[in-house]
Amino acid sequence: MSASTPNPTPLRSGPARALKGEIRVPGDKSISHRALMLGALCVGETRITGLLEGEDVLATAAAVRAMGAEAEKLPDIEPDGAGKPAGGRWRVVGCGVGGLAEPENVIDMGNAGTGVRLMMGVVAGHDMTVTFTGDASLCRRPMGRVTGPLKRMGAKFTGRDGDLLPMTVRGAAEPLPIEYELPVASAQVKSAVLLAGLNAPGVTTVVEPQPTRDHTENMLRHFGAEVLVRETEDGGRRVSLVGRPELVARDVVVPADISSAAFPIVAALIVPGSEVTLKDVGLNPLRAGLLTTLAEMGAEIETINAREEAGEPVADLKVSASKLKGVTVPPERAPSMIDEYPILAVAAAVADGETRMDGLEELRVKESDRLSAVATGLAACGVTVEEGEDYLVVAGSGGAAPKGGGTVTVDLDHRIAMAFLVLGMACETPVTIDDGDAMATSFPGFADLMNGLGADIRPG
Ligand code: S3P
Repeated sequence: MSASTPNPTPLRSGPARALKGEIRVPGDKSISHRALMLGALCVGETRITGLLEGEDVLATAAAVRAMGAEAEKLPDIEPDGAGKPAGGRWRVVGCGVGGLAEPENVIDMGNAGTGVRLMMGVVAGHDMTVTFTGDASLCRRPMGRVTGPLKRMGAKFTGRDGDLLPMTVRGAAEPLPIEYELPVASAQVKSAVLLAGLNAPGVTTVVEPQPTRDHTENMLRHFGAEVLVRETEDGGRRVSLVGRPELVARDVVVPADISSAAFPIVAALIVPGSEVTLKDVGLNPLRAGLLTTLAEMGAEIETINAREEAGEPVADLKVSASKLKGVTVPPERAPSMIDEYPILAVAAAVADGETRMDGLEELRVKESDRLSAVATGLAACGVTVEEGEDYLVVAGSGGAAPKGGGTVTVDLDHRIAMAFLVLGMACETPVTIDDGDAMATSFPGFADLMNGLGADIRPG
């Protein structure tokens, strides 16, 4: 059964004018969650610039506040000459590793899978009891992948039907350092174990079969922890953290989120005549698989002003409408573009020829079953698509506008909402989504930003 926000806002996206302009999409969601959590585990005051002020991250801010850290928004400043955004400046005063306090109430993490799984790791390493809940989407997502290793570290869990939220976590007074081999390539699970390991005496090691996003490792180092990373013989990584460091507060600059940038990037590629520049996009190689795939499809995306900010590679991207061709996306690329398959499928729908995407089993346990949502939505808009257990094949229109006209059920999934609004921009007739409110979790203001470029998104 599908779910929606309390007062859903249906939206329809019609054929767009050529998209033109320069934008900065909101801050990186993964980095924003980690900045708040690690800031809360530091000694001293951390200043964060560019924090994503989406609902998911605000839930994490409220969670660390409920556990005794200070986390507050600072007044907005005017944009500087380079067009940096106002806002997103935050201050976090931490309690030190192991220093958080038991909250008085249940912690509601809303739609935030990353937020709740990482916070479970934090709580697992503290001598306290915390109950987490979330919205209908989060309450159907599997938590066993994090509770499994965290139990080995000494934490105890009581969840609905075993491994579902609402769930009570009894953290370990003396967490044990463990070595854990990830059964699925998941940065959330790796991060939960490392965050619990912060308060364990000795070395906690996570072995991942394929490298996944390494923002936790980068930021732990940024705050002074010792993290060792070795490549394994079979192409994975061994990540070891020395427990009980003193984390020292340091400023964090959050780049624009590549996973959010993906939507205007694909929109600019598929709406004829478009040219859009995206500022300050985080280009961590473990996140940028979509750009590799789009380059293989023939996308014209120029990287400008490449630089490093707070340990993460960042650049501006100039995107021009391009003639795309279908490709085969190998399964080993999935971890570096795991959240980008819905929007890639939209690009594939107007490409010349077939696009095949393999190794997508994890898409079934995201905010919604994204494999099924993408296949159903594309079919409703006249696109030929084949959905397998763990793959998707999309037949491209060869540059012609797909029929459109479908109504897509968002089911509390922000990325499904945005992907289909982008599809509507390139279709003959508008595409409708049943609930635009879900987009506020990661990309507040998406419709206005896109309309400012030339899109036509309005209440449906
Ligand atoms: C994330 C990891 C990925 C991704 C999610 C954010 C993170 O999830 O899909 O949106 O910040 O660590 P998995 O770890 O489940 O692959």
